[in-house]
Formats: sequence, C-alpha cells, structure tokens
Amino acid sequence: MSKVILEVNELTTKYITRFREDIYAVDHVSLKVEDGKSIGIAGESGCGKSTLALSLMGYYFPPLHYSSGEIIVDGRNITGMNPDNVRKTILGNEISYIPQAAMNALNPTQKVIRFIEDVIQAHNPRVTRQEIYELARERFELLGLPADVLQKYSVELSGGMKQRTVIATSVILSPKVLIADEPSSALDVTSQKMVIKMILDLMEKGIIKSLIFITHELPLLYNVTDDIMVMYAGQIVERGSADEVVFDPIHPYSKALMGSIIVPEAGLRDVKLTAIPGTPPNLKNPPAGCRFAARCKFAMPECQAISVNLRDTGGGRTYRCIIPEEDLRKAYENES
Ligand SMILES: Nc1ncnc2c1ncn2[C@@H]1O[C@H](COP(=O)(O)OP(=O)(O)OP(=O)(O)O)[C@@H](O)[C@H]1O
Ligand SMILES: [Mg+2]
Repeated sequence: MSKVILEVNELTTKYITRFREDIYAVDHVSLKVEDGKSIGIAGESGCGKSTLALSLMGYYFPPLHYSSGEIIVDGRNITGMNPDNVRKTILGNEISYIPQAAMNALNPTQKVIRFIEDVIQAHNPRVTRQEIYELARERFELLGLPADVLQKYSVELSGGMKQRTVIATSVILSPKVLIADEPSSALDVTSQKMVIKMILDLMEKGIIKSLIFITHELPLLYNVTDDIMVMYAGQIVERGSADEVVFDPIHPYSKALMGSIIVPEAGLRDVKLTAIPGTPPNLKNPPAGCRFAARCKFAMPECQAISVNLRDTGGGRTYRCIIPEEDLRKAYENES
C-alpha cells in the first residue's frame, strides 16, 4: 500500500442554527486517500458533499462545528487545530480547495496575476513579483493555458477559461491534496471536458499527489477518479472502485443515482433512466433507520427502524444496507 496522504476517521460535524438546532451534515465519515490516487464523492444536492470538504480540511467557522473524529494530513494530525491556523499552514500548500462556483466569485477588478500573488505571498511573503510571474507563467504553460491570461481581468475570460485559471491558481503551491467541489458543473460540455482533463493532468504531472472530486453526477466520475464514495444524508452509503460503483452499484441509492443521469456518456447508454422519487430527509431530524428507506424501492419494514453500519464486502468495497448484496443483485436483475 502506498503512503496515505489524507486520512479521515469517523468524522462528524454539525451546523448549529440560529434556533440552536443541530444539523449533522457529516455523520461518521471515514476515508483514506493514498499518494497518486483520486476519490470521487457523489450524491444529490444537500447530502453534505461541500460540508464534508470543509470538514476534512479542519475549516470550521460558525455555524459549522467539529463534533468528533480525526483528520490526518500526510501523517500530521490536524484534528482540533485552530481554523485560522489551518488557513495559514494547511490551506493552499497542504490541501487546496476549489469551492463550488469559485469562478463566479473572482474579483472582476483584479488581474489574474494578482490572485496568484495573493496566494503565494500569504505563505511566502518574501517572494518577489517577478519570481511569482515566472512561476505562474511556467505553471500556466505546463497546464496548456496561454501566459497572457495572467494579465487579464476575470471578466475578459470565458467560463471554461475562468475555471481553468481558478484551478491553476489554486494549485500554484503544489498542494498534496486538491479538493475540487463541482468544478465542471455549470460549464458547457466542451469546457467540462477541458476542466476534467486539466485536473487529471495535475495528477499526471505530479503537481498534486491526490485528488478529491465532488459532483452530483455519479457517472461523470467514471474515467476521472480511481474510487467513488456515494453520500446520502450526511453518510457514506457505498464505496468502491469507480468501475464497480458506476457499472455494478450495490446500494439502492447508488443504483438509483446511476439511473437519474440526464445525458448518458458513451459506454453508459444502456442505463435505464428514472428519477429518484421523493426528496432526501431533513437533517434536523433524520429518520431512525436507513436514511434512504422512504425512497427505496427495495425497502422492507425493518429498514425504517434499523440503522446499518457500512458492511465490508472485501477488496475495499463497502455498502450500508440491511439487505445482503446477493439479494440486491437478484432484485436488480428481476427489474431489468
Ligand atoms: N450554513 C448552514 N447552516 C445550516 N445548515 C446548512 C448550512 N449549509 C448547509 N447546511 C445544510 O447541510 C446539509 C448539507 O449541505 P451541503 O451544502 O454540504 O450539501 P451538498 O451535497 O454540497 O449540496 P449541493 O450539491 O447543493 O452543493 C444540507 O441539508 C444543508 O441544508
Ligand atoms: Mg455543495
């Protein structure tokens, strides 16, 4: 097994609302990302993907609060580290996070090179502007971006170019882990492909060591990440290799998520399209048993009452369902 770059053990975090209600948006999540490996996190809107991203960086600002669990980055336990300290010492150079819709948040009155100066000088105040320019130019060219982008304002760039600029900027310090939160959503298909190719290049060219790619489109992760974790209502419901989860999902939610795609990719055209009925549960008051039971075609009466831990099928594959894997597979066969 190669070196583990990021390890998260049983992490639980919550939002505390103005009305003092607790919303556990990340519930006992564990994951390991090894050097050179990538992991995708998929799930519907509101299932906790972005909260997990913030939580696993130790980036807690109210209303988000740490509750329990452990985070280890490249052997260093950062659990309980002050969030300001996380910002100064972890973000940018150990872990880089590209927030959802980051490209729309760029300050339109600043040239691209100024964003890069901000990122670099926050960690190395003594680096000169000339040195930063040289580093940025080299890095942009390595990633197939024209160097003249550096002197442009964000409003002068197309959506796809803006997003690729955000990505190149966020990895300027060659962080060990990149967390990209829906980096290709809201882009046209051609720009989406270019953004994904660029993220894969970051791994291939050794700029980052490992990647966490968040999306609400499970099939998109096929050909992008090594592994996939499917998240539902704050919990991981399945984990496996990308191939396994996309082509042979075990959990009924993963299966349903595969069927809810709008534009099937080549190779996935045989997938039967169906919307998932209902909506995810309110996390202020999640159901006692399986959180997906109310929407699950295969649910049995006991599913509503019994909560299940992740079951290990061996070979790094886990799923959270009371129904045995063989019975689920038979049920899927009978359906098709
Ligand atoms: N600031 C907040 N205060 C209270 N609850 C919040 C806050 N932000 C998010 N939540 C709740 O936490 C849960 C998880 O939200 P999160 O944004 O992490 O989901 P997501 O999977 O990233 O969704 P999306 O696909 O829409 O980006 C949701 O139920 C949401 O209502
Ligand atoms: Mg999100």
